[in-house]
Amino acid sequence: MEDLKSKYLGLIAAASDEAAIEDVRLAALGKKGEISLQMRELGKMSPEERMVAGPALNALKDEINSALAAKKTALADAALDERLRSEWLDVTLPTRPRRVGSIHPISQVTEEVTAIFADMGFAVSEGPQIESDWYNFDALNIPGHHPARAEMDTFYTHRAEGDDRPPHVLRTHTSPVQIRAMEAQGAPIRTISPGRVYRADYDQTHTPMFNQVEGLAIDTDISMANLKWVLEEFLSAFFGTKVKTRFRASHFPFTEPSAEVDIQCQWNNGSVTVGEGNDWLEVLGSGMVHPKVLAAAKIDPSIYQGFAFGIGIDRIAMLKYGIPDLRAFFDSDLRWLRHYGFSALDVPTLHGGLSR
Ligand code: DAH
Repeated sequence: MEDLKSKYLGLIAAASDEAAIEDVRLAALGKKGEISLQMRELGKMSPEERMVAGPALNALKDEINSALAAKKTALADAALDERLRSEWLDVTLPTRPRRVGSIHPISQVTEEVTAIFADMGFAVSEGPQIESDWYNFDALNIPGHHPARAEMDTFYTHRAEGDDRPPHVLRTHTSPVQIRAMEAQGAPIRTISPGRVYRADYDQTHTPMFNQVEGLAIDTDISMANLKWVLEEFLSAFFGTKVKTRFRASHFPFTEPSAEVDIQCQWNNGSVTVGEGNDWLEVLGSGMVHPKVLAAAKIDPSIYQGFAFGIGIDRIAMLKYGIPDLRAFFDSDLRWLRHYGFSALDVPTLHGGLSR
């Protein structure tokens, strides 16, 4: 019996899976198992022999059974341990780094400009990029024969054969939004209109599509002095310092008088710096809104007057962030976007100090 015991306990210990355990069970305790056969022998024994062998065999059977059960549990535990080891996941690890996109300098600067003018009480208005000839030109006192039309390198849309209405245009400036805003709101009004504009022009500081922000302030007591204050206030808030500007008398059909503003800068080995050097970059046009423009927008010029301006967003973005070539803004070169782009969390606010 001792031999049987050590044989089967040894086999159980050596079994490496459930099937092997079952084989051991059948060999020991199955119908024809070695221990089962021994149990059958009990019948042939004398009562005295049986009194000794019976309990001993039963004890052996119990011992083998519990060894089988224990081994089964141990194998299941080992299998679970192995699974836990191989399928283990550390949920406290940081996620894999992912390339996040960046905010384009034009978007960033548009937000900066909006924050500054909002602080001075200007709302934001918008108009369509495909504009009628009336809003883009006529209402702004640029009639059909006016040289400004030719100078603007306008993109015209196509009209069907025999349709002699003037073609729509890709707006050449944001000034038509002045008219739309005055029509919609009347006077008094204080609003800016940022957006895309289009002209057939291409060099280091010109692209066929670029961005402007229009400004408009109309009331009963607005003067050129207010215009100058607003522009200087804007420029120093935007550049974060007092920048050197040059106000030049100029001419626009939609303003009288008119002024253009340049900013002092220097181009140096592929970079541009504000506030030094002998170069001037024109960044905006402005003036007192022409009475004919007010009248075109159904505002009485004998009661109301005001100023307007149009700023080149791309221009001031180039100057503030030292970007020498405007064309790169629209090349969608990922290296450029990563270099000049802004973090999505870098939201421009006045109290946050805009962007540096
Ligand atoms: N629309 C002009 C341009 O695109 C800029 C401009 C000049 C806008 C004077 C104005 C203004 O509102 O008063 O060149």
